[in-house]
Amino acid sequence: MKMKLITIALSMLSFSVVKAQQLNVAKAFASAAEQTNVLIKNVDSARRIRPDLVSPRTVENGQFKMVGSGDWTSGFFPAELWYFYQYTKDKRWLQLAKKYTEDIKPEQFNKGTHDLGFMIYCPFGNGYRLTGDPAYRAVIIQAAKSLSTRFNATAGVIKSWDHNGDKWKYPVIIDNMMNLELLFEATRLTGDPSFYKIAVTHANTTLKNHFRPNFSSYHVIDYDTLTGKVLQKVTAQGYANESAWARGQAWALYGYTMCYRETKNRVYLTQADGIADFILNNKITPVDGIPYWDYNDPKIPETSRDASAASITASALYELATYSVHAKKYKAAADKILNSLTTKYTGKIGSNYGFILTHSTGHRPAKSEIDVPINYADYYYLEALLRSKK
Ligand code: GLY
Repeated sequence: MKMKLITIALSMLSFSVVKAQQLNVAKAFASAAEQTNVLIKNVDSARRIRPDLVSPRTVENGQFKMVGSGDWTSGFFPAELWYFYQYTKDKRWLQLAKKYTEDIKPEQFNKGTHDLGFMIYCPFGNGYRLTGDPAYRAVIIQAAKSLSTRFNATAGVIKSWDHNGDKWKYPVIIDNMMNLELLFEATRLTGDPSFYKIAVTHANTTLKNHFRPNFSSYHVIDYDTLTGKVLQKVTAQGYANESAWARGQAWALYGYTMCYRETKNRVYLTQADGIADFILNNKITPVDGIPYWDYNDPKIPETSRDASAASITASALYELATYSVHAKKYKAAADKILNSLTTKYTGKIGSNYGFILTHSTGHRPAKSEIDVPINYADYYYLEALLRSKK
C-alpha cells in the first residue's frame, strides 16, 4: 500500500521537471539497427508464405503480424529503413529501403482513405529527400492528387474514413493533420497551389472544431457536407467522447508544428505551443514521460501506456523547439522521453520479432494491440533520435 502511494505521488510530478540523462544516440541507433535486422529476417520469412503481406505491423497475441500495402501502417517499415540509411550512409540500408519502398507504390492511387501521408509520404518522401529519384517524386504527386479527391470545400476538410457509415456521415480524425505534409510537398514539387490550399483549409477548420479550451483534442469530428456544420464530436480509439486519447494529442502536436514549418503562420505555432502545454503540464503522465493510452482512463495507473504517443511527441517537440520561445523546455522534455524509451521501452536484441519499442497501445476500446510493439512507434522513435542530434 505504502509503495503504491509513493508510486502515485511520483507519477503526480510533472515529468518535464525531471532532468534527462544524456542519451548516447549512436548506441541507441546501433541497437535499433540490430533489432531491425532481426525484423527484416522475420519479414522475409513471412513473405515467403504470404507475399501479399508486405510490412510488419505489430505483435498480436504473441504472433508476428504482417499487413498488405493497403493498411494504414504499411509505409512505416520502409520509411524506417530510409532513416537507417540517412544515419549511417550505408549502401546496404539504401538497397533495403529502395526494395521495400517499392511494395507500397500501388497505394498512390488509393482514394479510399486519408492515410496516404503515412503510407506514401513516409517512405517516398524520405526516399525522395535522400535520393532525388524522380520516380519517387511522381508517386508523391499522384498520392497528393488521390488524397485531394477526399476534400470537401463546404466542410473545409478532407474525409478520413469511409467505414462505419452508420456512426457518422463525414468523419475527420485528428490524425488527418499528419497527411497534410504530403500536400505541402506536392505544391512545392509542382507549383500547383491547390494542394497547399487544401492543406491550409483543413488545418484551419480542424483548429476551429477539433480542440477544447485546454488545447486537448477530440478524436473524431463529424461534418455535414451540405452546411459545413459539425454534427458530433466523438471518439473511436479513445476512452470516451470527452477524453483525451494520448496518440491523438501527439498527432495534433506534430501536425500543427509541421503546419507552422510549411506556412510560417503564427496561429499554428500558438496552437502547437498550447498542445505541448497540455501534454507536458498534465499531472497524469508518470515521471518517465510515457503517457497512458488515454489521459482520462479512470483505471490509471492500472492501464496501458502508449509508447507510440511518446515517440511521436518527442519527435514533434524537437522540431517545435526550433521555432518556439519555449525551446529549452521542449528540448528537455523530448530528451527525457527519448531517454525513457531507449532505456525502459526496448526489448532485448532478438526479442519482439525485431520491433524496437515495446508498450504501445493501438486500439484499446476494440481490445486490439494493447501493450505491444507497433511499427509507427519505431518510426517516430528513429526520427526523434535523428532530430535529437540537430
Ligand atoms: N491513425 C490511426 C492511429 O493513430 O491509430
